[in-house]
Amino acid sequence: MSTTSPLIRKACFSDGPAIFKCIKAHPGELVPRPLSDILLHIDRFLVAELDGEIVGTASWAVLPELDPSKNPSIEIQSVSVRDDLQKQGLGRRLVETALARVAEFKPDQIIVLTFTPPFFASLGFVPVSKEKLLYKLYKGCMNCAKYDNPLTCPEVAMAYDPRKREGTAS
Ligand SMILES: CC(C)(COP(=O)(O)OP(=O)(O)OC[C@H]1O[C@@H](n2cnc3c(N)ncnc32)[C@H](O)[C@@H]1OP(=O)(O)O)[C@@H](O)C(=O)NCCC(=O)NCCS
Repeated sequence: MSTTSPLIRKACFSDGPAIFKCIKAHPGELVPRPLSDILLHIDRFLVAELDGEIVGTASWAVLPELDPSKNPSIEIQSVSVRDDLQKQGLGRRLVETALARVAEFKPDQIIVLTFTPPFFASLGFVPVSKEKLLYKLYKGCMNCAKYDNPLTCPEVAMAYDPRKREGTAS
């Protein structure tokens, strides 16, 4: 067992296959992503590396915004920590690092769709109605092969106000 703490860093192309495995390891909670999708969006992934192995990941996507007076929102996606390293603060570090990065874009809000609301609540996310987010979520939900309707799918929508981070070091 390693005594060092995982390093969180930006992903690079050679991390693609390990990120693919990391996400695929949690089919109950995460929508699997093809390797091609991971590689095309590699600039939107973070990884946690321990002893040369990828043990966690987190990513984000920009969501469309129809109101020109607002900035687009960001969805945090594919947050995954290897089973034997869970409950040691790594998921928190991955999401905190992702929040700091995406807050730089000044999004209107940061959202997540999740089966683990308590984890995201501990990071400052609060539940929001899916109806209010529907057109933003549509882009992801329209490709979902798991549930037939985003409003009845069991994932909980939660939002984080990026203005909470203003004034904090990122
Ligand atoms: C959810 C997940 C990323 C959490 O990672 P982790 O490294 O275990 O989380 P942390 O140790 O950083 O926990 C942070 C906080 O969330 C809480 N928490 C973590 N997982 C939890 C869970 N499944 N249920 C309830 N609370 C949870 C922790 O107790 C901790 O609370 P505290 O700060 O008050 O002590 C990890 O369990 C995982 O990979 N799950 C499978 C994939 C998944 O569900 N991803 C999220 C959907 S996008």
